[in-house]
Amino acid sequence: MIHSQILGTGAYAPKRVLTNKDLEALVETTDQWITARTGIKERRIAAEGEDTSDMAVIAARRALAMAGCRPEDIDIIIVGTISADMPLPSCAVIVQAKLGASRAFAFDLSAACAGSLFALSIADQFIASGSAKRVLVIGAELLSRLVDWSDRNSCVLFGDAAGAMVVGPTTDPDRGLLSTHLHSDGTAADILNIPGGGSRHPQSHEVVDKNMHKVHMNGREIYKFAVRVLPAAILEALDANGLKVSDIDHIVSHQANARIVESVLERLGVPLEKCWLNLERYGNTSSASLPISLDEANRAGCLKKGDLIAMMAIGGGMAWGSALMRW
Ligand code: ACO
Repeated sequence: MIHSQILGTGAYAPKRVLTNKDLEALVETTDQWITARTGIKERRIAAEGEDTSDMAVIAARRALAMAGCRPEDIDIIIVGTISADMPLPSCAVIVQAKLGASRAFAFDLSAACAGSLFALSIADQFIASGSAKRVLVIGAELLSRLVDWSDRNSCVLFGDAAGAMVVGPTTDPDRGLLSTHLHSDGTAADILNIPGGGSRHPQSHEVVDKNMHKVHMNGREIYKFAVRVLPAAILEALDANGLKVSDIDHIVSHQANARIVESVLERLGVPLEKCWLNLERYGNTSSASLPISLDEANRAGCLKKGDLIAMMAIGGGMAWGSALMRW
């Protein structure tokens, strides 16, 4: 039976570093508050003229090089993003053109911070059905241009980056993606949104004056939601595969807040050392966070053949889920 495995990973973060100390000059906050409440010390900010697609392309090239795959080998490009270069066309077709991936069809996926996990699940369906052999899954976000830099509740959290995975088929029953489980709850749509700039409130002076084109967030509600649903998503994945919490070798997680990750792992009974944490250096990079973490753990040599990796992500929508994989 065909199922999918990850053949290559890649990541990119812009050069410019914005530290908590730097933020003290922008809003009423302190390094101590941000570190204690979130675990974040610094984040990366894209350069002027650097677009989401530019970051995505660099991460993608690194993943393709690792997979030994040429752009023209790619059948599908899926970009999980809520900060595409422009509302139309998709970020994915711009990435396709920049890479020269002429055979691929390409589209964006909107599931906020869960975007790359949702994209991975879709890639898996195409691979398992035999209709694609190489799928490029990207999570890329340039949220520094969408946050309100006068709102200390949200602006301290986010950073810019991209991560990529090349997904292909395997018939080895002991390796690859075992399952993905995805969920959404649109009744919680108002706890994290960008209310303006869409068809409900098209771009206008009023939208800009009211800051409706920026990220609006109820941090406490997101926190409560995340620590409730993420442990259940991991347990659901383990249960579906007849596995136990103690079978997990690594957790690769979307990183919104160190306290969220710690709380979820504590509820599951998984030691924190099993999770690759890089939030301190990048902040919350939304859909990029999961593939960046996977890439760092991979390139650091932490992932051994046969290791069981549990992935989890949650984002605005709310949208969340889990994946289980044998490396
Ligand atoms: N610096 C200093 N003080 C601050 C800051 C700041 N940057 N931000 C908020 N405060 C203040 C608040 O105004 C509040 O003051 P008050 O008590 O006088 O009203 C106080 O700190 C406590 O605020 P809380 O919101 O209760 O703080 P909490 O411990 O919940 O932490 C945080 C806030 C960090 C936002 C947390 O709720 C969180 O991380 N939630 C998840 C949000 C998130 O991850 N969003 C990203 C997108 S969604 C995703 O990726 C899943």
